[in-house]
Amino acid sequence: MRVFGIEFRNPVLLASGVLGISGYLFKRIEKMGAGGIVTKSIGISPRKGYENPTIVELDYGILNAMGLPNPGVDHFLEEIKDLNLSIPLIVSIFGKDSEEFMKIAKKLENYCDALELNLSCPHAENYGMSLGQDKNIVYKITKDVKKTVEIPVIVKLTPNVDDIVKIAIAAERGGADGITAINTLKGMAVSIEMEKPILKNIYGGLSGRCIKPVALRCVYDICRNVKVPVIGVGGITSAEDALEFIMCGASLVEIGTAARDLNVFRRISEGIEKFLRKKNYTLEEITGKITKNI
Ligand code: SIN
Repeated sequence: MRVFGIEFRNPVLLASGVLGISGYLFKRIEKMGAGGIVTKSIGISPRKGYENPTIVELDYGILNAMGLPNPGVDHFLEEIKDLNLSIPLIVSIFGKDSEEFMKIAKKLENYCDALELNLSCPHAENYGMSLGQDKNIVYKITKDVKKTVEIPVIVKLTPNVDDIVKIAIAAERGGADGITAINTLKGMAVSIEMEKPILKNIYGGLSGRCIKPVALRCVYDICRNVKVPVIGVGGITSAEDALEFIMCGASLVEIGTAARDLNVFRRISEGIEKFLRKKNYTLEEITGKITKNI
């Protein structure tokens, strides 16, 4: 299947932010059946991230505030430059403004298949969502990165806005080749014993099964209003979940929290195949089936 002009062996990709950024890990994910890899977000220089605790395990999902830890783009390039992956590598990048995004994008352009702009991290001051909640900023950053590189540029959106469709349209107008929806929902957790917030950063991003209905609603609304391909992400743990996103219009899906078990990629892509065989459909025939019918 081809999306953004890139060939994917199946529609089930690793989402950004869940696993590390070592070449060894990427090779392992390739072996475990993923259709593609989206890396953890990479910035212009090394960043330590927040102090612990950075993760809270909840009965219904995970709350995380890692603080965008990464080795910086130059070091990251060393990690990926001789990888020779047989599946597409999409590098997630973050910056504080257009200039920073453009610098990182240019450095990466020859070493990956596409870029995913993180305009959606819900808890990093001056980055992510603090840019991605403003449609004019989303438009400008997308446009500036697009004029800098020739590879596809995908914009990852935050659900923490009054109207995600407005932001998706701004990204599309800026020239985005695709939209990823959604990043995590801003939240917090409290220890009643310690009488304080659990996360060092107080706020974190909520992911996992509990956010699936929100993610699905966003994908459905976006797909009815933009023409570029959409990647659905948020709480997907089964083939049935993935098929819901595909029927709402997603061309690809990303697995985040559930990718802590690497068997998930094969399980979901084989489950999708099985459903298609049973119904005698192609993937194209069911993509957006619900969206188109309403
Ligand atoms: C993090 O590194 O804190 C998560 C990144 C994100 O939510 O986009």
